[in-house]
Amino acid sequence: MKFIIERFDGKKSYEQTYTVEKKDIEALTLLSVLLLIKQTQDVTLNFTASCRCAICGACGVRVNGHAYIACDSKMTELFEEYGDTDAFRIAPLANFKVISDLVVDWEPAMENLRKIKPALVAKSEFSEKEGCRQNQEEFDRIIKQWDCILCGCCASECNKLTADHTDYMEPFVFTHAWRAANDSRSKDPMIHVKPSVTNGLWNCVHCQECANRCPKHISSADDIAGLRALAMRKGLNSGVGPAHAKSFYTDLVEDSGRLNEIRLALRTEGVSTVMRAGTAVTLMSAGKMNPLEVFGGHTIEGHKDLVKMIKAAQAANKE
Ligand code: FES
Repeated sequence: MKFIIERFDGKKSYEQTYTVEKKDIEALTLLSVLLLIKQTQDVTLNFTASCRCAICGACGVRVNGHAYIACDSKMTELFEEYGDTDAFRIAPLANFKVISDLVVDWEPAMENLRKIKPALVAKSEFSEKEGCRQNQEEFDRIIKQWDCILCGCCASECNKLTADHTDYMEPFVFTHAWRAANDSRSKDPMIHVKPSVTNGLWNCVHCQECANRCPKHISSADDIAGLRALAMRKGLNSGVGPAHAKSFYTDLVEDSGRLNEIRLALRTEGVSTVMRAGTAVTLMSAGKMNPLEVFGGHTIEGHKDLVKMIKAAQAANKE
């Protein structure tokens, strides 16, 4: 079977096809297949790997467009996922600059990670003698985010980064910001929340691809939502993002329980939203928006229960 590998020699991109016997690779991981190709066919093929046991995060690549850690991807599972194919396309992670073949430049992502100060800045009441103690419950709260191995799969899948990476950071950066901000030993969560806000926290487009493809089953999308809630609770309420979130709440809880796109846009972007009047007319003529309900419509069935659920979630969140 064929492995079509996207290569880059520092100047030009090209693809190269390597052929291997299917029976020889069925019991291997994807990383073992790449090593086999390097050892038996082409020593110039470049990729990175270290631990070979899903810990170091060095072996992220794309298979047929999706991100995987190669050492933790069994060929049997890939055959199951993609059917009985006779070719796989292997490419470097997306949304990273390629250095050589499957090797990408991590420095810009590491620079982003530094911005949110991922290391613990401990409360001053911890003594040198006692250290920074944490009980099991406090540790359990952040244990999932500690599983992040910085493999870059979430960043590779991120639609926001693909569209425009200049005002956003890799999803795993927000996961580490959430983890640091929610560490019971932390002196001040805002040390991590503020740089998240100023570096694109509200620009996530909610595609959920980061959560879908994380090999450790971490949801950076949830962590981004958690950071947003924390930012708003701590008074970082200005800007389009918080206004948009508040407008959802107003529509669902204080109004009819029905999202009203016109009021949503007005509450979010103010009068500048008039520029979108044409879009509103198009939506109305396509039957996507009821002009009779622009300034308020009938309350949805079960609205009282919806409000009860939201209030209960809010109360639980405060505990
Ligand atoms: S080689 Fe370390 S995670 Fe794959």
